[in-house]
Amino acid sequence: MNREKIELTTVQKTMLATLYARALDSRARYSVLHDRTAADVVEHVDYDWRKTGTRAPWDAATLALRGRELDRWTTEFVRAQPGEVTVLHLACGLDTRAHRLGPPPSARWVDVDFPDVIDLRRRLLPEPGGDYRMIGASVTDEGWLEEVPADRPTVVVCEGLTMYLHEEEGRRLIRSVCARFPSGQLLFDCFSKRLIRYAGKMSWLGMGIAPRAVLESWHWGIDDPHELETWQDGLEYVDDLYVVDVPDLGKLPAAARIGLRLSAHAPGGRDAGRLLRYRF
Ligand SMILES: C[S@@+](CC[C@H](N)C(=O)[O-])C[C@H]1O[C@@H](n2cnc3c(N)ncnc32)[C@H](O)[C@@H]1O
Repeated sequence: MNREKIELTTVQKTMLATLYARALDSRARYSVLHDRTAADVVEHVDYDWRKTGTRAPWDAATLALRGRELDRWTTEFVRAQPGEVTVLHLACGLDTRAHRLGPPPSARWVDVDFPDVIDLRRRLLPEPGGDYRMIGASVTDEGWLEEVPADRPTVVVCEGLTMYLHEEEGRRLIRSVCARFPSGQLLFDCFSKRLIRYAGKMSWLGMGIAPRAVLESWHWGIDDPHELETWQDGLEYVDDLYVVDVPDLGKLPAAARIGLRLSAHAPGGRDAGRLLRYRF
């Protein structure tokens, strides 16, 4: 079998860590996402997956739970709309969110990531069917948003993106999506400012929670979710969820469960990672 080789920059490569986490999760006794497609892609790519730094069961479980909660919020939005909707999935990487959720015919689904990531996605992943399209662009560029029709309520979901943006880029992105669509929601995960500040230092001390180059690519942290409401008229914070509070932690393997509980009690551990939901 010809296995695909991967050449990407540090930030783009981070999608391999999350993909590998979902592949490991799919093999776990208590699998959160059952993402067999992720496992198939991992088998077809010629890459030393240990380099991602992703470990089972800890990373596999926490990343899968984070993904499942964003899946749940996305589905809630789509089901709550009486008519047609758009799902705008930013920084999709090789995530199979569209495949997992199987959106109804009333949904248009748009996956966005850098052009070379989208090329790889086209080669490695089957298309999920339905009204589905991909856009290869940086979300910080001008212009790409005009390719997404502005005719419907839109849920913008992104996982593992905000930390790789600078705050000003995040602010511009939020303003432009809120201004483009008639109404919708913004769903994303974020890290605390403290985690961003200490990530680089931890890596120098050899205590990295991710490879050093990745930690050095983290820029934007969020502590107060209400701060973002001041950036754009009509943007309203709905709720949040700390990663250490996601449901079903009790069903995880003991090592993941204990690790999560310990991190919840470490200084700054509880609010280090969070999911945020806004409406506009
Ligand atoms: C940690 S990965 C997460 C990928 C995917 N959401 C997942 O959970 O598997 C970060 C992703 O953000 C993408 N990304 C980072 N900055 C971006 C930008 N400015 N525009 C588009 N995509 C970006 C990377 O290419 C990568 O796919």
